[in-house]
Formats: sequence, structure tokens, C-alpha cells
Amino acid sequence: MKLTILGGGGFRVPLVYGALLGDHAEGRVSRVTLYDTDAGRLTAVARVLTEQARGVPDAPEVVATADLDEALRGADFVFSAIRVGGLEGRAADERVALDEGVLGQETVGAGGIAYGLRTVPVALDLARRIARLAPHAWVINFTNPAGLVTEAMSRHLGDRVIGICDSPVGLGRRIARVLGADPDRAWIDYVGLNHLGWVRALHIDGRDELPRLLADPALLGSFEEGRLFGADWLRSLGAVPNEYLHYYYFNREAVRAYQDAEQTRGAFLRDQQEGFYARMKDPSAPALATWDRTRAEREATYMAENRDAAGAGEREESDLESGGYEQVALALMRAIARDERTRLILDVRNRATLSVLDADAVIEVPCLVDANGAHPVAVDPLPYHAVGLVTAVKAVERAVLEAAGSGSRSAAVRAFALHPLVDSVTVARRLVEGYREVHPGLAYLDRP
Ligand code: G6P
Ligand code: MN
Repeated sequence: MKLTILGGGGFRVPLVYGALLGDHAEGRVSRVTLYDTDAGRLTAVARVLTEQARGVPDAPEVVATADLDEALRGADFVFSAIRVGGLEGRAADERVALDEGVLGQETVGAGGIAYGLRTVPVALDLARRIARLAPHAWVINFTNPAGLVTEAMSRHLGDRVIGICDSPVGLGRRIARVLGADPDRAWIDYVGLNHLGWVRALHIDGRDELPRLLADPALLGSFEEGRLFGADWLRSLGAVPNEYLHYYYFNREAVRAYQDAEQTRGAFLRDQQEGFYARMKDPSAPALATWDRTRAEREATYMAENRDAAGAGEREESDLESGGYEQVALALMRAIARDERTRLILDVRNRATLSVLDADAVIEVPCLVDANGAHPVAVDPLPYHAVGLVTAVKAVERAVLEAAGSGSRSAAVRAFALHPLVDSVTVARRLVEGYREVHPGLAYLDRP
């Protein structure tokens, strides 16, 4: 199997390669092509991969290229993990939003919209190109905002593009663990959009164990989402939301914590990764050890402002070792390549899963995966409070897709104004102007 990684110079590529190194079964990935627009980053990441492969006799061969067409031809799987505008762009997304008193997170609220507006045109180009040059490839989209970007790509790739995120897996695993259950044997009833979903039940041996969790403050206080949202709120909601819903349910506190922070997440990661890539220019620097130290620091500070605002303390040791991100990707590839039926929570087209959305809307839902792709399973309807958020955010995503397709500024304003976390049309108008000033990638919004 041949895997091509778009954004091959990206910081998390060694996670994926590390997972591939542990796969020795037939039908495994034997060749990895890294494609990136930045040659320096490609070289740096390739150095880390070389060190990772030491002592592994059947390590997948790695090639790096700056030629997209060459990277795509013959690929069985394409991972898309790009960052349009880089981490500098992410920091600008945050700054412009926070100056207007709204959230600038890369996937939620104004920041997510700005990032989506920049990324969708590029993702559409890639999708067209993949459809032409690698029509049989399966495309796994990591690029955030993952639900929106997957939906954009699905317009050209149909069900051959599948979006992934590790946060629902992590959530399911944490809940199963505190309930003393084996996460692989639990059936997790989770649905929504990417970064906007809820665990409504967790079945173990045919029994829903979530009520036991919700009734027990000690259990609720013993895992990340329990501490983030607080036992009272979870009990009142009757579900455990994805951690990203903290930005909705505690929006004021989150915005304030971000405004008060010394540095935004994007600015922190920008500086951190600048340091890493600069260090890699020194041929005597240990690549893998430097990368791993940087990764550990990134993990430890993940959602730190939210945890501060909630008084949730440090992250658990078990949440710090990565695993979700690359394991979901590997499990998905294996299921498709070997026709091994697996259950995974993925971002796919809705079909008839949620009756409040149309068939083409990409949602995040448990799927059965086999050689024919990912098939969403039937789930219970969402409660009204969740329908409200999911349909509002889908309307925002559709406005982003419209703006990206037409260059219409008024569609872009509509995207911001319709978002539940943007509280005024005036603010939405200023956000469009503010973002256009700082992002050259938004110059295409040139129609009224
Ligand atoms: C979680 C999210 C991803 C995100 C990652 C890293 O796993 O589900 O979408 O990319 O965290 O977040 P960070 O803030 O470190 O970039
Ligand atoms: Mn995610």
C-alpha cells in the first residue's frame, strides 16, 4: 500500500509514521510519500522519520517531494493534513477574534470560520486534483476544521473522503476507563458535528452505564471532561459533551481566559514549532528526541486556558501519551485495506442518519468500516438543545462553502453572523474586514 501525506512536513507526521512502524501485517503501508510546499520542513520531518525507522527491518520507505501530481499518482491512501496560512495564520485568527471579544479557536466560532474560509478553496483544489490523478485512492482528512473541510472535499470525492478526529475516541476511552470497562468492548453512542458532539450512552454488555457515571460525582471528577464541565452541568445535560463544547457552554469564561493568557494557543505553537524546525537545521541535533520533547510540551499545554477557567487542573498522565490521532488513522486504513470490519467514530456524509440535516451534510458518527468505506450506523435523534447547535453550525459551514465558491463577502458575513458564538452582525462585518486585512489568502472574497 502506498500512502501520500499532504502536509508531509507537518509536526504530527512522525506520529503517523510511528504507528505505521508498528504494523507488520500483510497489506500494510510499505511506502510513504511526503508532500509539502515547504522544503525545509520536509527535510526536518524526514530526519525524525529516519531516526524512528532505525532498527525496524520492514520500515516503510519514505520519499519526499514538492511535486503534488507526482505525490498523488499511484497513491492508495492520501492523508490530508495541511495548514493553510501556517501557525502564524492561526495566531492571527485568534488575535482578530479576541480583539472583537469573540472566540478565535481554530475550529470553533469566529476563528474556525476564518480558518475555514482560507482552507476550503485549497482543499477543493486538492480534491479535484485527487479525483483526477488518484481516483481510486481513499482520502483521510485531518485538516481542521475537519468536518467542514471534509464536506468541501466530498463535493468532488463523494464517500472516498473520510474525516477523522481523535477527540471522540479519547472521550469514549476516558469514560470507559472510569467505568472500569474495556473501551474496545463498549458501544459508545456519540453523534454531532466535528468538535460538536455528545456521548449520550455507553453500552457495556448490553447495559447503558452512562447513568451510573452521571450519578457519581467522584467518578465525574476523575476524568478530563468531567472536570471541565463540572458534575452538575453534566448531570443536568444527561450527556457528556466533546471537550470543544466548553467553548460554547462556558463561552465568556473561555474568551476571558484566552484574552488574559500570555500567549494564544496558535502563537505558542508557532513559536514552539519555529524553534523545532530551526533546531533541525543543525545536523548534529538529535531529531527524534527534540521532536518528542516538543510534542510532550504541546500535549501538556493542550486546552490549558479552558482547564484554567474551569479549575480542572493538569491533564492526566494517560491523556498525555498521544495515541488517538495516529491510531484512528491506522485503524481506518487497515479496515479498508484488509476488509477488516471495524467500528470507528468518523466524519462522513449524513445520508439519513440525522433527520434534521440533509444527506450531504458531513457529520461525526460511529461508522462500520470495511473495504467499501465507512457506513454510518443508526443513532437516536439528537435532543433539541443539540439540534439547535448542530443545525446552526451547519448553516454557518454552508455559508462558508458558499463564500468559498463564489467569493461573496456577504456570504462570509452571514457565516460569522449566524454563528452562535458571534453576538452581532456588526461584529461579523468587522471580522470579515479584519480577517481580510491580515490574511492574503482571503483576497478572493472580492465580490459584494
Ligand atoms: C485535538 C483535536 C484536534 C487538534 C489537536 C491538537 O486532538 O481533536 O483537532 O488538531 O487536538 O490541538 P492543538 O491545540 O495542540 O493544535
Ligand atoms: Mn479534532
